[in-house]
Amino acid sequence: MSVHDQIEDARAQALSRVENAPDLDALVAIEPSLFGKKSTLGGLKRLMGQVDASERAAIGKALNAAQQAVREAFDSVRVTLAAEMRREQLETERMDLTEVPCAPNLGHLHLISQTTQRLEDVFVGMGFTVSEGPEAETDWYNFTALNLPSWHPARSMWDTLYLDLGSGEDVLLRTHTSPVQVRVMEQQRPPIYTVCPGRVFRRDTADASHLPAFHQIEGLVVDEGITFGDLAGTLDEFTAAYFGESIKSRLRPSFFPFTEPSAEFDITCTICEGAGCQTCARTGWIELGGCGVVHPNVLSNVGIDPECYSGFAFGFGIDRLALMRHGISDLRDMFTNDVRFLTQF
Ligand code: PHE
Repeated sequence: MSVHDQIEDARAQALSRVENAPDLDALVAIEPSLFGKKSTLGGLKRLMGQVDASERAAIGKALNAAQQAVREAFDSVRVTLAAEMRREQLETERMDLTEVPCAPNLGHLHLISQTTQRLEDVFVGMGFTVSEGPEAETDWYNFTALNLPSWHPARSMWDTLYLDLGSGEDVLLRTHTSPVQVRVMEQQRPPIYTVCPGRVFRRDTADASHLPAFHQIEGLVVDEGITFGDLAGTLDEFTAAYFGESIKSRLRPSFFPFTEPSAEFDITCTICEGAGCQTCARTGWIELGGCGVVHPNVLSNVGIDPECYSGFAFGFGIDRLALMRHGISDLRDMFTNDVRFLTQF
């Protein structure tokens, strides 16, 4: 083989090794064997001494050209492989900036606040406004205006906590959110479509399913021609919107002094979806709250003519709803403020 052919061979071989290097590390690893004294082209240089003087210049030129071609190919492949490696690295090391790493202990709304807001969202979506009232109430708003005069035996349905504020037993911690409906009706003429969420209090010893302070949401509608059917339809609509289409509502006859007729409002057990389980005592239903058509006396008490307007009201507990939705077994866990519990929600 002529020296020229050997140079051509060595150059082709070197170029193919450069082009086939799989990554930057492999390319860098073969660098000494391409350009060093021990490389094939380097070896050929050493033959120069034995080459005929007349050919020496031409062979030297060919050798240099070959070496330069390999160097250029090497440099360009190195740039490409380095860019590729950088791109891969960026891809695998990409940081998730949606979680702020310098504020890991950021707080969030309590489960009850989250549940309340979700409930408000559903009712606002149905056209209701949101109203609030004081937690310390007078006897009038909590009982008397709601058709519960002082002698009414049904007052014992609520284990009331009274505040020692002057005149006898006049100021109390509200036992339900119903006084807010009285306040709304006093301030606003029909049509009224509102929900009143809030904290309520009863003289109860805390256990897994009772708390002396808990939360309710009350709904009130007063308009012309409102019937019990509107109540049933609204509760059904709410149940489907909040829990999903598979959960239904039902009404059972009951008694409340401020509504007539009155009903107990149940929903399909969210755990077993009606099949019957431990949570719903194998009935397939869970009791959520009370409801009914607003008693004419209540409307009269706030100066709304019961001959022109009628309405319905409903009220249910928020804490038990949150408990059911998240499979919590003890209501008290929600208020002992253990962050390990709270951060789960
Ligand atoms: N206020 C009632 C309670 O706390 C619930 C209720 C609200 C019933 C509205 C009927 C209408 O038990």
